[in-house]
Amino acid sequence: MTRILVTGGAGYIGATAVDILMGQGFDISVLDDCSTGHEDDVPKGVKFVKGSLLNREAISESLEGCSAVIHFAGKSLVGESVAKPELYWQVNVVGSRNLLDVMRENKVKKIVFSSSAATYGEPESVPISENAPTRPTNAYGATKLAIDAMITDEARAHGLAAASLRYFNVAGALQSQRGWLTERHDPETHLIPNILRSTPANPVKIFGVDWPTVDGTCIRDYVHVIDLIDAHISALRVIKESSHEIINLGSGTGYSVREVLTAASAALRHQVPFIESARRLGDPAVLIADIRKAQKILGWTPQRDINVMVADAAASR
Ligand SMILES: NC(=O)c1ccc[n+]([C@@H]2O[C@H](COP(=O)([O-])OP(=O)(O)OC[C@H]3O[C@@H](n4cnc5c(N)ncnc54)[C@H](O)[C@@H]3O)[C@@H](O)[C@H]2O)c1
Repeated sequence: MTRILVTGGAGYIGATAVDILMGQGFDISVLDDCSTGHEDDVPKGVKFVKGSLLNREAISESLEGCSAVIHFAGKSLVGESVAKPELYWQVNVVGSRNLLDVMRENKVKKIVFSSSAATYGEPESVPISENAPTRPTNAYGATKLAIDAMITDEARAHGLAAASLRYFNVAGALQSQRGWLTERHDPETHLIPNILRSTPANPVKIFGVDWPTVDGTCIRDYVHVIDLIDAHISALRVIKESSHEIINLGSGTGYSVREVLTAASAALRHQVPFIESARRLGDPAVLIADIRKAQKILGWTPQRDINVMVADAAASR
């Protein structure tokens, strides 16, 4: 039986991964310090090490018996990364450096890493392929790019088999036997959970209605968390020794903020309250993934569209 270490397995995406992997017969170990994750999202039957990527002994303990790592753990709030870049370089980059070192010491030779579309920054053109220039506009994206570079070197020098999966916007939820696994971020910065929470007294804000898009609102690419995890499992199967694949994960389709609002209003069966406000500095108008590499290398095509993502997120509340 293959045992996999899931770092960040108490977080939104990591806990979903743990559930799906267990359902497919994998043995799971989790390393998470619960700084943004929730211990009660980790199922019984997994080996849970409550500890940090900044503690090599905790990493070593969590890696016992594992032959591969899926590395979700890290800090991921763009605004916080601008205010506290040192925290992001420490947790994300030093933490990932520790993980790679302890993996090498323990002869664990496979890793699938959660990278991000934030590595590209403002695109010159869309859809964004893996060959697009990488010019992150915040410390969060810069740290993801730095980790990608460390993994490339580790694969070249020490034979690691690796993939960095650059997610666009992850959404949706998983109904597990233990109930729904869903986004429980605090603060919540993601559009769909914020739309679903909006009330007349606290309406969701649309940042800019004068963008050069179909309806004037920003366009983003959303991928369902279940589809996303399926891509990780494919990646674990196809990665090869001494090689590091960088692969975008999105749906390849863009949805405007107004389209997401419409999908949410349909799922909730009432008009979601919103207000229009000014553009936010640094927001690109359109971000859409070119997912041809994921289709080719992982044999993966996302199955769930924005209506399913919003409906699942709504059902999970
Ligand atoms: N959610 C998205 O749309 C999205 C998009 C692109 C990339 N990502 C990446 O996917 C990964 C998971 O994102 P998420 O939305 O599930 O976030 P999350 O905050 O819910 O999960 C991250 C987990 O990492 C843990 N963690 C943080 N610092 C740690 C440390 N030092 N040691 C051990 N554990 C630590 C947290 O407690 C949490 O459980 C992150 O790396 C994020 O950057 C997410």
